[in-house]
Amino acid sequence: MKTNKIPLVDLKRQYQSIEQEMMAAIKNVLDETSFILGEPVACFEKSFAGLCGVASGIGTSSGTTALHLALVALGIVPGDEVITVANTFIATSEAISQTGAKVVFVDIDEKTYNLDISKLEEKITARTKAIIPVHLFGQSADMEAIMQIARTKNLKVIEDASQAHLAEFKGKRVGSFGDAACFSFYPGKNLGAYGDAGIVVTNHQTLAQKMRILSNHGRINKYEHLVEGYNYRLDTLQAAVLNVKLKYLDQWTQKRRQIAHLYDILLKDAAVKTPFVDERARHVYHLYVIRLADRLRLEKILTEHGIATGVHYPVPLHLQKAYQYLGYKKGDLPVTERCADEILSLPIFPELTNEEINTIGHVIRRELKHKRDESLERVAQNV
Ligand SMILES: Cc1ncc(COP(=O)(O)O)c(C=O)c1O
Repeated sequence: MKTNKIPLVDLKRQYQSIEQEMMAAIKNVLDETSFILGEPVACFEKSFAGLCGVASGIGTSSGTTALHLALVALGIVPGDEVITVANTFIATSEAISQTGAKVVFVDIDEKTYNLDISKLEEKITARTKAIIPVHLFGQSADMEAIMQIARTKNLKVIEDASQAHLAEFKGKRVGSFGDAACFSFYPGKNLGAYGDAGIVVTNHQTLAQKMRILSNHGRINKYEHLVEGYNYRLDTLQAAVLNVKLKYLDQWTQKRRQIAHLYDILLKDAAVKTPFVDERARHVYHLYVIRLADRLRLEKILTEHGIATGVHYPVPLHLQKAYQYLGYKKGDLPVTERCADEILSLPIFPELTNEEINTIGHVIRRELKHKRDESLERVAQNV
């Protein structure tokens, strides 16, 4: 099997660029031998919430636990329904089910791949308590419309911003729209830890306090537990890692946007759909996702050239075995299903070089031009 010359994500290049600073930060935690909570966690929570333009941040052990924590603190209980999309990582819906609530999937917008506002209201029932929009691939969902519907129907909104650090909608950072917003710092994310980590941010003080208590065994001090909670704390070593990386997030995000721009230019004439950008949104390109009918063939050609690709996500959640019990069938979310068959993620990470991007663009252009020529030939033969 051919090894990839151009990986989908290369975490080593980034580590090498900040190695000394990172080792010093990690050593500092080891020297202090203070491994639970403490200054690195508090510092990160404050800085990250500030970046989102939100009052409070509660570090968590992952993006998944951040989502679960927010749902529990917002009072989601068995019998409730929570609406989300089916073209996301399963963590979004797992968190809903873990509260005992029922997951209700809504279809997506063909262009942005985010929740389709026009199909949202028909999914709302008397049992609906919350909506979790996912800012997929790094582009914000239409938070203005979602918040408006949610307020009218008295629903809570939890943004799943796991793929959208520093993304914006109408000049406002994601994370600042919903009642709460959750971010993942899984290593490959735009801001990635060196293990599992996450955060939930909110502007509501009482909610923040509730989540903080719940995330740390329901504690109000060392020996007093107000309620039964969870061990969802952000690891101190991971917080130290994130504090180092946070300084570079803006610069890395700009780099991702430049790479996406270069791809856009290179693929302009190829027979693929490049990412659609809502003019109200600032896309942060966690993933650069193209769309084409014959994905398999392009995947194969790129692999042959040592270029890694991914599919996010090939099997929508409503068609996963895990959700068979919900009773969805093929055809229930037609746009989600169509997109799942046709999307392809190309390599994107801040350290990807122009040469690599050019190589990828060249291979795709050559392949898809070739196919276009073939179809033209067929037309010519029929004339
Ligand atoms: C959209 C989305 N939601 C939730 C998660 C879960 O985050 P974590 O892996 O940190 O638990 C991820 C990433 O893994 C994600 O991409």
